[in-house]
Amino acid sequence: MLPFIIIACELLTLAASLSVPSAPIHQSRHLGSNILPNRVIAQFPPGTWVENIAVRSNGNLLFTTILPNASLYEASALDCQTPTITRLFTVDTITSFAGITETSKDVFAIIGGNFSLTTGVIKGTFGLWKADFTHGQPPSAELIASLPDAALPNGATTVPQNNHLVLLADSLLNVVWRVDVKKGTVDKAAQFSPESDTSGVSGIIGINGVHVHDGYLWFTNSTATINAVTGDPETSMYRIKVDEDGVAAHDASAEKALTLPSEGMDDFTFGPGGRNIKWIAGNVENKIFAATPDGKYAVVAGASNSFEVATATACKFGRTRRDSHVLYVTTAGGTINGTTEGGKVQAIDTTGFRV
Ligand SMILES: *[C@@H]1O[C@H](CO)[C@@H](O)[C@H](O)[C@H]1NC(C)=O
Ligand SMILES: *[C@@H]1O[C@H](CO)[C@@H](O)[C@H](O)[C@H]1NC(C)=O
Ligand SMILES: *[C@@H]1O[C@H](CO)[C@@H](O)[C@H](O)[C@H]1NC(C)=O
Ligand SMILES: *[C@@H]1O[C@H](CO)[C@@H](O)[C@H](O)[C@H]1NC(C)=O
Repeated sequence: MLPFIIIACELLTLAASLSVPSAPIHQSRHLGSNILPNRVIAQFPPGTWVENIAVRSNGNLLFTTILPNASLYEASALDCQTPTITRLFTVDTITSFAGITETSKDVFAIIGGNFSLTTGVIKGTFGLWKADFTHGQPPSAELIASLPDAALPNGATTVPQNNHLVLLADSLLNVVWRVDVKKGTVDKAAQFSPESDTSGVSGIIGINGVHVHDGYLWFTNSTATINAVTGDPETSMYRIKVDEDGVAAHDASAEKALTLPSEGMDDFTFGPGGRNIKWIAGNVENKIFAATPDGKYAVVAGASNSFEVATATACKFGRTRRDSHVLYVTTAGGTINGTTEGGKVQAIDTTGFRV
C-alpha cells in the first residue's frame, strides 16, 4: 500500500497573509485611492521583466518575460503561501516574449522577437509562437506565423467567437496586426497614426494593450501628453468599432474613452466576471488603476515610490470559483530609493472594490 500523502503545501489563511501596504498613496483625482489587499505570487531577481499574463482553464497562470530572455512560466498551487513557479520553455532564437492569449482550449499564442532596452527592436525578428497544453505540458514553442513587417507587436488578444484570430498591437507602427492561427496568415485589422520611425534606437511607444469588448476594440495608448491645466502627464484609452472578424471599418476613427493621470498605460482587462470595470496596469506609475464605464477611477494597488506593483505591465482575473475576483498582475520591477527589484506576479483581492 502506498503511504497516504496529506500535505501538498501550507495553505493560505487569507486575512492574515494579504498585506495592506503602509506606503503613502498618491491621490487620484476622482475617487481617490481604494487600495486593495494583495500578495506576492512570484518574485524574480533584478533583470527580469515579466511582461504579460494569461490564465489557463485549470486556474494556473502563464506569464512571459521580455528580459533576460524569451521564457514562458507557469504558476500553480496558487492557494499555497508559496505557489509553484515553473519555467516551461525559452525560445533562444529571439530575445523576448510579449503578449500572450488563448486561441482554443489550453492552446496559447505568444508574440516574441528581438527587443533590447539599449538597442531597440530588430524589425523582421517577430513571430507568433504556440504553447499547446492539450497533451500535457508543452515541450517547446512552435512558430505559427512570422510577422516580417511588424516593428514592436506588444499586446495580444483574440476576437470573441473567433478565437483563432489573434490581434496584436504594434506599439511603434500603431498597427493592429491580425493573425489567423489556423491558416498562419497575417493582415492588418486596423491602422492608426502616427507611424513612428523605427530606424532609431527607441521609437515612441503608442498603442499597447488591446482587447475586444462589447463590439469595440479597446486599446491603451502609451504616448503621454501634458494636461494644459494641471501640467501633469496623462495618457488615454481609446475604442473603435470592429466587425466579428476583429476588423475596423476602413474610414472609422478611434474615440477617446478614458484619460488617466499617468505617463504610460500598459495592458488592461475587464471584470471581474461580467462587470464592466477596466483594470489598467500603470507601468511607470507603479500602480494599478480601476475605472468605471462613466470614467470614475481609483488607484487600487501600488504608489509611485512602492515596489508593490512597480512597472505594472498587465493583469488578468483568475478563472476558478476560488479566485475569479483575484486580479493577477505582472510587473517589470524597477529602482526606488536606490534599491532595484526584479519583476514579479502579484495577486490583488478585488472583493472590497467599491465605486
Ligand atoms: C532564461 O532566463 C532564466 C531566468 O534568468 C534562466 O533561468 C534560464 O536559464 C534562461 N534560459 C536560457 C535558455 O537562457
Ligand atoms: C535575435 O536574438 C537571438 C537571441 O539572442 C540571436 O541569436 C539572433 O541572432 C538575433 N537576431 C537578429 C536578427 O539579430
Ligand atoms: C496616441 O496619443 C498621442 C498623443 O495624444 C496621439 O498623438 C496619437 O494620435 C495617439 N494614437 C492613437 C493610435 O490614438
Ligand atoms: C522611498 O522613499 C520615500 C521617502 O522617504 C518613502 O516614502 C518610500 O516608502 C520609500 N520607498 C521604498 C520602496 O523604499
